[in-house]
Amino acid sequence: MEFYAWYEPISVLHTSKHSQVLRARYKAGKDDVIQNGTNVIIKTHTTEYTSLVTAEHFRREYNIGKIINSSENSSNVVRYLSLLEKKTDAGQAIAIVIEDYTCKSLLSIIPQGGFDVATFLNHSIQITKGLLSVHDCRIVHKDIKPSNIIIDDNSHIMLIDFGCASQLQEEVEKTPVKSIQRIYGTLAYVSPEQTGRINRTIDFRSDFYSLGITFYQLLSGKLPFQTNEIMKLVYCHIASKLPPLPSHLPKVIVDIINKLTMKDCEDRYQSCKIPFILLTHNHTRSWNSIRSTKMQGVIRKRSTLYRTLSYRDT
Ligand SMILES: Nc1ncnc2c1ncn2[C@@H]1O[C@H](COP(=O)(O)OP(=O)(O)OP(=O)(O)O)[C@@H](O)[C@H]1O
Ligand SMILES: [Mg+2]
Repeated sequence: MEFYAWYEPISVLHTSKHSQVLRARYKAGKDDVIQNGTNVIIKTHTTEYTSLVTAEHFRREYNIGKIINSSENSSNVVRYLSLLEKKTDAGQAIAIVIEDYTCKSLLSIIPQGGFDVATFLNHSIQITKGLLSVHDCRIVHKDIKPSNIIIDDNSHIMLIDFGCASQLQEEVEKTPVKSIQRIYGTLAYVSPEQTGRINRTIDFRSDFYSLGITFYQLLSGKLPFQTNEIMKLVYCHIASKLPPLPSHLPKVIVDIINKLTMKDCEDRYQSCKIPFILLTHNHTRSWNSIRSTKMQGVIRKRSTLYRTLSYRDT
């Protein structure tokens, strides 16, 4: 597209109904924040021009990304560099420029039977830390899933795709979603309250449910609810128990996933801090000592302590 002529496309990474994601190289041009010859990711629409509504959607994603980037501790969130816009009589075009870390999506590297526990812990701690920094900005991601998580060659993880995200205040002012047509997010991962079938507004805890489904997939290599029928899937999110995870997995991890995916958001964690602390704690201790009753007692005590650090007041 002519309006990003100073970016030379290298490859197309992803195309969906409304957007395409490209890797491109920056040639001399208008963006002062980017050095000549640097590779970047460009997210734009698939057609030459786009509607006002879609343009606003891209603008929103960029603005939300910038809010998170400007906060401390956002190293597990992708960096938004600039927004390219062009308006002519023929129409308008828009593209988001994102930093390129030569990452792959987590979805593309999940082994058939899931990640081993040590790798899972490395990934899940960083994902949870990323989500914590998003929530600290009072933003709900609303589309947590392995294809919206990327990883570089040094196993550094980042959250991407704030296309569905919103500020908590907007959600508080909204009436609960009533129609399945208006679901934001991806049906295989959405919380019961995002399905439009229960009378509840969306908040941080909706992300915890999607995080739990994501963890389940990372550990088992498959989604807990596997059906292509929309209504069946909605029913599963609202009423079905998750199929048991492999029995060799540490109980503490299974418990974290069960708590994240509770049907009633009041029964989930009330803040990312608790799973973050529990996962980090387990990562730094050998599994043998974790299995000892004494250590499990310590973990239980800590989880009670940190339950008080909740987002209930938001
Ligand atoms: N910064 C990045 N680095 C590497 N790959 C990326 C990056 N951003 C996006 N991708 C790749 O492009 C894919 C789609 O990106 P993104 O989720 O932002 O687009 P999308 O149009 O919202 O997609 P969908 O609607 O399918 O979620 C990702 O799953 C990932 O494989
Ligand atoms: Mg996406």
